[in-house]
Amino acid sequence: DAAKNDYNLSQPLDTSSGLRQGLTSYGDAHFSLFLRKVFIKALGYSEDALARPIIGIINTNSGFNPCHGNAPQLIEAAKRGVHLNGGIAIDFPTISLHEGFSHPTSMFLRNLMSMDTEEMIKAQPVDACIMIGGCDKTVPAQIMGGISANKPILPLITGPMMPGSNRGKRIGACTDCRNNWASFRAGQIDMEEIMGINEELAPTIGTCGVMGTASTMACITAALGLIPLQGASAPAVSAARLRIAEQTGANAVAAAKAQRTPQFILSAESFYNAAIILQAIGGSTNAMVHLMAMVNRHPELNGNFKLDNLDSIGQTTPLLVDLKPSGDNYMTDFHNAGGMLCLLNRLRPLLYLNAQTITGETLGEVLDRSNFRDFESSRSIIRTLSDPLYPCSSLAVVRGNIAPNGAVIKASASKEKRLLHHRGKAVVFENSKDLALRLDDPSLEVTADSVLVLKGIGPIGNPGMPEAGMIPIPRKLAAQGVTDMLRLSDGRMSGTAGGTILLHVSPESGIPDSPFGVVQNGDEIQLDLTKRSLELLISEEELHQRITLRKERLTAANEGEQPSVWLERKSRRGYRGLYERTVNQSHEGADFDFLTATGPKT
Ligand code: FES
Ligand code: MG
Repeated sequence: DAAKNDYNLSQPLDTSSGLRQGLTSYGDAHFSLFLRKVFIKALGYSEDALARPIIGIINTNSGFNPCHGNAPQLIEAAKRGVHLNGGIAIDFPTISLHEGFSHPTSMFLRNLMSMDTEEMIKAQPVDACIMIGGCDKTVPAQIMGGISANKPILPLITGPMMPGSNRGKRIGACTDCRNNWASFRAGQIDMEEIMGINEELAPTIGTCGVMGTASTMACITAALGLIPLQGASAPAVSAARLRIAEQTGANAVAAAKAQRTPQFILSAESFYNAAIILQAIGGSTNAMVHLMAMVNRHPELNGNFKLDNLDSIGQTTPLLVDLKPSGDNYMTDFHNAGGMLCLLNRLRPLLYLNAQTITGETLGEVLDRSNFRDFESSRSIIRTLSDPLYPCSSLAVVRGNIAPNGAVIKASASKEKRLLHHRGKAVVFENSKDLALRLDDPSLEVTADSVLVLKGIGPIGNPGMPEAGMIPIPRKLAAQGVTDMLRLSDGRMSGTAGGTILLHVSPESGIPDSPFGVVQNGDEIQLDLTKRSLELLISEEELHQRITLRKERLTAANEGEQPSVWLERKSRRGYRGLYERTVNQSHEGADFDFLTATGPKT
């Protein structure tokens, strides 16, 4: 009967949901619906099926993405959840990003994926959308796009891989990729062993098994209330992961009916909770960029939640989770110790329990019904508030004359804590190429107290902000046993890396009037973490003068000279041109300016 109504030309069509969405944009809505049905019926759907809430499932499976290798099974289980609850599930592809196969960087392509996600959710008649993601940049890309599209979104994380084994010792990507390669280069591991290790570092499909960016974003997505709590950590190859997919299908139908949109669910409180979790897991610094990008997609939060909120929340939040790279364990251990359910219960006194979740319950209600039992054995992996791994501020934001919009540091990953309060002479590298040329030069004037400065790896300077911020210790110092130095750049570092490393300096040196751009060799730089200050010790006058001179140089096209990055970007083609001309700074999320909530409105 409902189908007959679709042919009743004297009645206007309800175009608010299901297959009828968006039909008003055509002159003849009835004919548009008629055509839509013609084509979707080619796949064998019945009128009955098409009358139900339509749940889209974004399939990011790709032969180049082992982190999403379980997508086919997840889709099958999610569909089961949708169908058991009266919806109809329809999957469709978007681009897929894997860290290893996203040249030049996956961060460069994150915004492209977010645009793909947003536009496909908007273009197709879905009432809610399950988004399968997991590898580092995919989950933030999907949430960014989902917030902008503002239909109910349900991330479905692929889950971590299992750890492998080398001669009886557990190993896993990607912290152990670095350690073992370093041992091989140093001659401590032979060819046969390193070849065996290569086969075991990623022994199953799924995301990296340590607290890198993928795991960090999975935990944050749970803290935001968008996924079942177990969904942050259940292994990619587990039966639990498939049950989470089925549950996600059920949640999607309910969220579609109630129209629980991300702009409704996500509030400042949700992001405070995300910040608490980020600090408590000692998560990836990359997450700070992603969180700011998400916040700034939200019309009510843009400008109301800043990088400084991440810092101030850190000041009262201890680091509780003992995983690599800060600790010793793997995501499977975190999962077995109770995962996010245990962590959120431990942190309960600090959380904003009124924050909404995708099920319609508040976070407090989710925790109340979860029946949490605290096992003694879990406490070595997920510490208690009274016995933290690091007291507070595992991640911090500092500011000063060379970083007026901030720089970030994972203080808990510093190997030499004295460097957190340090004054030293700058050894400056103008870009990655300069670094590669001179870092290991035996005549380089550098001591263990120097501050290594790398410019030119910010969003514009080196599109995509490569993870080159962990500047290696110059070889001659490494040979003397130096393992940590104060390092400073406008780029990022991998979530699996550590050291006393300041990142994301904003504004980046690629911008002509960036104060960071005028740091010179031999200048003194002072970091005072307690005061959250990062200062270049020169007079205000001199700083100003240097900036004016540099700005003139970088914005003028001088004959016979290579144009600056700033000028070059104007004549670039394609996606890279779009990226360089419109990307904002890391403290804003390194998003495209025209995609943020304060950007153009239509
Ligand atoms: Fe995909 Fe590490 S490579 S999560
Ligand atoms: Mg990574």
